Amino acid sequence: MTQVSRHAPLSERMLSHRALDVEASGIRRIYDLGQRIADPINLSLGQPDFPVDPRIKSAAIRAIEGNRNGYSVTAGVPELHAAIWGHLSADIGWRKDDGLGLMVTNGTSGGLVLAALCLLDAGDEIVIPDPWFVLYPQLAKLAGGAVTVPVDTYPDFRMTASRIEQVLTPRTKMVIVDSPGNPCGVVLSGQELADIADLCSRRGIMLVSDEIYDGFVFGDALEGGRCPSPARHSKDMLLIRGFGKTYGATGWRLGYAAGPAWLIAQMTKLQQHIYICAPTPLQCAASEAFHVDLSPVVAEYASRRDMIIDALGDLTTIATPHGAFYAFIEVPKRLGMTAQQFCERAVDRRLLVVPGGVFSRRDTHLRLSFAAPKPTLTEGLAVLRELFTHGF
Ligand SMILES: Cc1ncc(COP(=O)(O)O)c(C=O)c1O
Repeated sequence: MTQVSRHAPLSERMLSHRALDVEASGIRRIYDLGQRIADPINLSLGQPDFPVDPRIKSAAIRAIEGNRNGYSVTAGVPELHAAIWGHLSADIGWRKDDGLGLMVTNGTSGGLVLAALCLLDAGDEIVIPDPWFVLYPQLAKLAGGAVTVPVDTYPDFRMTASRIEQVLTPRTKMVIVDSPGNPCGVVLSGQELADIADLCSRRGIMLVSDEIYDGFVFGDALEGGRCPSPARHSKDMLLIRGFGKTYGATGWRLGYAAGPAWLIAQMTKLQQHIYICAPTPLQCAASEAFHVDLSPVVAEYASRRDMIIDALGDLTTIATPHGAFYAFIEVPKRLGMTAQQFCERAVDRRLLVVPGGVFSRRDTHLRLSFAAPKPTLTEGLAVLRELFTHGF
């Protein structure tokens, strides 16, 4: 915890340890550098590049015009609950009356933060993958004095039960797994996820499965046509999913959390005071979301993934992404550069990619987002191919 001297400026003395300890996202630095160049080749963005389906847009407009603009009940509007339960029952076999609860959250981030606030006390440990999604290491700090324990998943980026088991202690309260993952796009198998669920159940630890990218899994990693999930194996866990990435609506701030009713009840209680509810008209619109056919988008992303492997696979190491829209690519060792150095120099070639140190204790890889149109991706891959071959 940061110690603030009595003589420090007022702003520092006033601010809580919580605020001072939480770090801003490192993606920001590349974004700021990118602001200085005209016409960047931007492969740094973590959001889909397709528009919201017209059916969902129309439903949002109808809800606004139909005066559904006030607060909703904290856990979410009934029609969205019905749609999510229908989806969960078909997808993973979870039903409302199995001791399970459901709440609509303010984005997936909202669900993750509420889970941390409800589960973690000072000194408790939260296990996260390394590389991680940028929010994960901040959760322990937001919760106040909890401890982050990263699991090193290099070089294949698989967060396996055996890797997790090595870091568990009597203080471990929560394990987060994200598959498909950000920043690597790696998809764990159903068996790997079931092993993690079993381990957590045996040790009395809450498994939190962040499945924000469950809509984006490529053919080779689907199991029975679906994204592998530990929820098909266990109900003794918290499932967190979102609408933002799946339906190209990250600004709508909509996600949901399902899991043990006692935990969802506490998360709903906190949401009541913190966010009150997710945006009501957009909740109404999201009730239409599960009817949207995502297969053309997923096929497009799979073909962009293939472009990356074809362009760079012979020059460096890439754990093939089987989901999401990111590739985590090793900066060739022969260049003798950290990823931060590489990414900063790449800006001179108009290329924006994110250094791995933003997501990890190591700074050896870069994250390339392929949520960008094919011409942009083609241009960016040509720059990377040249830099990986000849350096700067
Ligand atoms: C793994 C992961 N979880 C959660 C989030 C947060 O998503 P939301 O916009 O739904 O809060 C992101 C966003 O990039 C993510 O990559």
